[in-house]
Amino acid sequence: MRLNAYLARAGICSRRGADELIGKGRVRVNGEVAGLATVVGESDRVELDGKPLAPERLVHVLLHKPPGVVTTARDPQGRPTVVDLVRDVGVRVVPVGRLDADTTGVLLLTNDGQLANQLAHPRFEVDKVYEAFLRGIPTDETLRKLEQGVQLEDGLTAPARVRRLTRSVIELTIHEGRNRQVKRMCEAVGHRVVRLHRVRYAGLELTGLPVGEWRRLSAAEVDRLRDATERQQVQDAPRTGAGTRPTAPRLAPTSPKPSPARAPRSDRAGSGTSERRDRPSR
Ligand code: URA
Repeated sequence: MRLNAYLARAGICSRRGADELIGKGRVRVNGEVAGLATVVGESDRVELDGKPLAPERLVHVLLHKPPGVVTTARDPQGRPTVVDLVRDVGVRVVPVGRLDADTTGVLLLTNDGQLANQLAHPRFEVDKVYEAFLRGIPTDETLRKLEQGVQLEDGLTAPARVRRLTRSVIELTIHEGRNRQVKRMCEAVGHRVVRLHRVRYAGLELTGLPVGEWRRLSAAEVDRLRDATERQQVQDAPRTGAGTRPTAPRLAPTSPKPSPARAPRSDRAGSGTSERRDRPSR
């Protein structure tokens, strides 16, 4: 694996950040100052500023969140948490963003702080796709309002994509992550949300995952998430002589992949493809 990918997967920084560290001669592999083209394997000893990177697995888990489960690590009211549901993953992972207790669907959990921060940051404009079951039948004009942006007490929402699925069920794609945003948007245009389900997050889909179950992301899925956030960083980098910054593209939804055959939970724990065993001792 390229050294920059190794450092990124170890949770040190992005691959671009890793290239800077390598360029400054701060990274050594087996005692030698590394170059941008250095490739490393499991047995190599990698050091940053003279400190060895100690092993730890990076784990990325997709949960099909059931209703009645809170998106926190611990609930003062003693309700079950999403962290309880993925306990047998074997390492401590935390949710990226949050869903309301009664919302179901795609939730990403990880111990990859670097990636989690990037995905949760509004700058990265990660697409979140929801199915909202509404009370009443919205008019086309109402859907247009949702699309254009709705005035909420914490400001105007960014433009959204809206598609009618049935008379009273809509698909809403947003990239902001405000508290209860979909419900508040729908309420603001006169329709209570009676049920909310997230069908996609940053291109990740449930693809047959039963309610309450989880699966590890494949290495390819993790790399796609990383690539997308890093593309955004490159877009945001200051440009000399450039007048204006390009419009930030959204994370394009990746095409759904066929679900891998599911192993029983006991087999899945510890058998992921997105794991790394490298972590800096800081
Ligand atoms: N918007 C909501 O209103 N609730 C959620 O859980 C997620 C988005």
